[in-house]
Amino acid sequence: QMKSRMETAAKMKDEDKLYRRDGILYSTVLSPPETLDKLKDLQAREDDLILVAYPKCGFNWMVAVLRKIINASTGKDEKPPERPPLVEFLPPTVQEEMAQMPPPRLLGTHLHPDNMPATFFTKKPKILVVFRNPKDTVVSYYHFMNKNPVLPNAESWDKFFSDFMTGDVSWGSYFDHALAWEKRIDDPNVMIVMYEDLKQNLPEGVKKISEFFSLPLTDEQVSSIAGQSTFSAMVENSQKSHGNFGSIFFRKGEVGDWKNHFSEAQSKQMDELYHSKLAGTKLAARMNY
Ligand code: A3P
Repeated sequence: QMKSRMETAAKMKDEDKLYRRDGILYSTVLSPPETLDKLKDLQAREDDLILVAYPKCGFNWMVAVLRKIINASTGKDEKPPERPPLVEFLPPTVQEEMAQMPPPRLLGTHLHPDNMPATFFTKKPKILVVFRNPKDTVVSYYHFMNKNPVLPNAESWDKFFSDFMTGDVSWGSYFDHALAWEKRIDDPNVMIVMYEDLKQNLPEGVKKISEFFSLPLTDEQVSSIAGQSTFSAMVENSQKSHGNFGSIFFRKGEVGDWKNHFSEAQSKQMDELYHSKLAGTKLAARMNY
């Protein structure tokens, strides 16, 4: 069903692929208004595992890591479901079926906290949030626009860069998302991880994440999961995990690729916006900017 909706989206004209709702752009086919309306009532449970990331911050990486942690810790060996676990892509009927899903449910989203189901906060499930340096995020997003048939092609790097700066991209402004999580950074149910830290020391990241979700692993399991979750290991496995869409989600997997795309002026512009929005925040102190 996901595949056929992606095919429908691929046939649309670029200008029809996104629509605006409360000022934010969403996919017309994957997140139509009835899906987002219904989502307000999604009943999260305390034992759900929630994964949140602004687009291109490493969502699919963490999905793979979390699935492995769940399987190792529960002793199950589940095949990954066909559908990516983004709640804003679940049609209303599928959202209803979610109520029957046994725990532990893994629910993911790229939505801004204000637009998430209210029970994500009232039921107090644990929420893992992934962030990435905005310079690498916008570069990754730019390439994603041009490869993902669901999204319109970027007109040019310069145009996409300026849209990203003003937040006129799907799922809205990176900086609004960052500020929303800054407010929740000390919430005991929230853990924020940084893409660059995961690149630097994946075993440590896997261990911390498993402990946060109270899914303890042996040291051996930690190193085996980290070994299977490097960029190269995931690329090798991508035909199985993502089919022909693999190349859309795995590009370079590096820190600092922005240097190959940004002009000096763009770098300065981003520095200024970053500082005006995030200077002095706890999130900025953790970000590898
Ligand atoms: P690049 O475009 O910079 O390569 P998301 O899953 O949120 O859409 O993020 C996609 C980004 O994460 C892409 O970045 C992708 O290559 C990178 N990525 C995916 N798996 C990864 C891994 N195992 N290690 C490092 N980066 C990974």
